Amino acid sequence: MKALVLAGGSGTRLRPITYTSAKQLVPVANKPVLFYGLEAIAEAGIVEVGIVVGDTAEEIKEAVGDGSRFGLEVTYLQQDSPRGLAHAVLIAREFLADDDFVMYLGDNFILGGINQIVADFQTHRPAAQILLTRVGDPTSFGVAELDSLGRVVGLEEKPKQPKSDLALVGVYLFTPAIHEAVRGIKPSWRNELEITDAIQWLIDESRTVRSSTITGYWKDTGNVADMLEVNRTVLESIDGRCDGVADSGCEIIGRVQIEEGAEIRNSRIVGPVIIGAGSVISDSYVGPFTSISADCLIQHSEIEFSIVLRGSSIRGVSRIEASLIGRNARVTPAPAVPQAHRFVLGDHSEVQISR
Ligand code: G1P
Repeated sequence: MKALVLAGGSGTRLRPITYTSAKQLVPVANKPVLFYGLEAIAEAGIVEVGIVVGDTAEEIKEAVGDGSRFGLEVTYLQQDSPRGLAHAVLIAREFLADDDFVMYLGDNFILGGINQIVADFQTHRPAAQILLTRVGDPTSFGVAELDSLGRVVGLEEKPKQPKSDLALVGVYLFTPAIHEAVRGIKPSWRNELEITDAIQWLIDESRTVRSSTITGYWKDTGNVADMLEVNRTVLESIDGRCDGVADSGCEIIGRVQIEEGAEIRNSRIVGPVIIGAGSVISDSYVGPFTSISADCLIQHSEIEFSIVLRGSSIRGVSRIEASLIGRNARVTPAPAVPQAHRFVLGDHSEVQISR
């Protein structure tokens, strides 16, 4: 059994972060979201992994390397542009050969791994096995329709009028039957070869498509709100630990992970919080569900329920919440006069000012 991990795409909903960084590498509790998926694949006993990469190929390769760190053997497969999930299967034909495989979307986050699903697939070995979960707004996902016996009878990609609230989770299991399916479909209205259409093709050809509905935690981390939510969930289960320094003026409450070389001075940190290596927090408040990456500086500021990426500084700002701050960003107060906000914002940035 192999794995095909999708780490291409353009990440439009996470702009401007994704202008300079792959969406799959945005950290959750200071670890790229993609790594959680790779760990789950390794844990399921899979070794050979093909990673489909696009414009951000170099960055993904630098982060993941040959995969040995995860106990994996990684082969990179270049996709010329984001032409859909089924297109990724198409270009991976040679790598996949005639093996069964799990396809894992690199920006999806599933709590609890995939061992059970992989074992289930291996027992029944349907042409395809999909995972479903109930969502509030199915219109931004692939949606499944089941009959009274729970069999999948139809699938639709991002339907305007969804036939159910069962969304397709970004983990799929396939036998080589899928290769015929991806060759048999046409691009969708968004000009992509949809995996949803390929699975529908299997259904139309009377091949077995099994589904299991998961009740556990799942998120597609495609937008900021979901990213913050996944970060919150992962932080819920961290342990407190201090490998850095916190001086006597600090008040550390709850589970706070202070990584090596991080320094906390005269600050109040209320966990769960993770503070990356080499970061300095002084005269500040860092509140629950905050991940500060490595080499950041937080001075005379207050921040909570946020993600701050590597090398950023926040000085004299209160209070920041529900924010995703990119790499090497600087947030400071404007000079006192005139009373005005001053911005240097990247394209597609989003700022909400408190009144
Ligand atoms: C893709 C799939 C969709 C699925 C979703 C899960 O959507 O096409 O069927 O529900 O992933 O994350 P996309 O990320 O391409 O919008």
